[in-house]
Amino acid sequence: MQKLWQKNWTLNHTIEAFETHGDLLLDQRLVKYDVLGSLAHAQGLHQIGLLSGTELSQLRTSLLNVLTLEKKGQFTLQLGEEDIHSKLENYLTESLGEVGKKIHTGRSRNDQVLTAIRLYTKEQLLTIWEELLACAEAFASFADQHPNVLMPGYTHMQKAMPSTLGLWSGAFLAGLLDDLTFLKTAYTLNNQSPLGSAAGYGVPLPLNKELTAQLLGFAKVQPNPLYCQNSRGKIEAAVVAALITVLQDLNKFATDLLLFTTTEFGFLSVAAELCSGSSIMPQKKNVDVAELLRSKVHLLLGNYTQLVGLSSNLMSGYNRDLQDSKKPLFESLTLTADCLEVTTLCVAGLTVNPERLQGALSAELFATHYALELVKQNVPFREAYRQAGQAYSQLEFAAFVESCTQQLTDTKQGELIPLINQLQQEKTIFTQERKKYQTSINQLLSRKGMYAQTYRL
Ligand code: ARG
Repeated sequence: MQKLWQKNWTLNHTIEAFETHGDLLLDQRLVKYDVLGSLAHAQGLHQIGLLSGTELSQLRTSLLNVLTLEKKGQFTLQLGEEDIHSKLENYLTESLGEVGKKIHTGRSRNDQVLTAIRLYTKEQLLTIWEELLACAEAFASFADQHPNVLMPGYTHMQKAMPSTLGLWSGAFLAGLLDDLTFLKTAYTLNNQSPLGSAAGYGVPLPLNKELTAQLLGFAKVQPNPLYCQNSRGKIEAAVVAALITVLQDLNKFATDLLLFTTTEFGFLSVAAELCSGSSIMPQKKNVDVAELLRSKVHLLLGNYTQLVGLSSNLMSGYNRDLQDSKKPLFESLTLTADCLEVTTLCVAGLTVNPERLQGALSAELFATHYALELVKQNVPFREAYRQAGQAYSQLEFAAFVESCTQQLTDTKQGELIPLINQLQQEKTIFTQERKKYQTSINQLLSRKGMYAQTYRL
């Protein structure tokens, strides 16, 4: 396949495969986004008089055709093609002749790839955002269903103080809401249009970058063209860093789940349909899903290290090393969306075993409460601590445990309410953001009614 830069030499086949083979598979995911970027770019060229109305509409027809072909699996990148950007331009030139040759006016594959990656990432982040809210909702409803069901609270993996299932589940809700702050920051960084920055130094043409940014639903233009290139890998790393916070929370949940569903603990059970069996031990019902959930944060940590490493030590501007940032980014986005979906299923599939929880509430868990009861009667804390340390192992302590248990069971736990309110607010913010994006893309696609208004993420 003729390269866009083809002159009087031919690229060695081994070198060509080395430079492009793995990357072509990743670029397949960018087809749709490179088409969107090209639609906006063509519109921009028309607006400054570099494409006629007829030329614009021919380009639009061909670009929309690529989307249809892609959906049917008929626009696949093959070895010999350099990347999606070359394939797209070659396709337009083959189908439209001279008009196709105009699409690259004022752009470079450097800003093209950045634009496509930003759009892909944005859609993936919107999916993750939605999955995160659904997962937070699952934790909220589990907490709400079992607010005062007592369970042992642990420190150092030893029994510490009485806790509740509501407190336990609410902690994951709180964690996910915090992670959303990181996620939204990464989303904001990614939500800048690099289109028009060309190779990293702009072009001597009056490109309307505001227009193309707005057509693509970006919040703003990324103003410094050189920084557009310098931020490649850096913004990707910020995205993965945000995803890591999510997976950190899911990792803790997975570990708790594995522990609390053991025969020894037995506090919780997981729906059978979420468990796997053993090929040799007939009795086994394993929560493999939690183990595979637990492992993913480590994979993302590796991806984060790759991204920071790949984008460091490079001089300013585009460097081909950056091509390798696609894999760790794409993998991290997919894994996080999958983990959130799976966690939501696990939380919804939890059953509580009240007898096992009750049985685990041994007297020592109440020693601190007893000491603080004495404090209320004016005993200095250190003295109360000493007395409680002796009392909890005595038989008479049982009466205190009973009354304390009753009191804890009856007291309304207040921690959940602000978290649930926050979750509701976050849902509204998300819905507005997604709608804003979808509206822009629908408009971009449907100009002159050429594409049905059914764009879905
Ligand atoms: N596949 C390349 C990448 O991901 C596209 C940009 C190529 N630019 C260039 N100047 N060779 O970085």
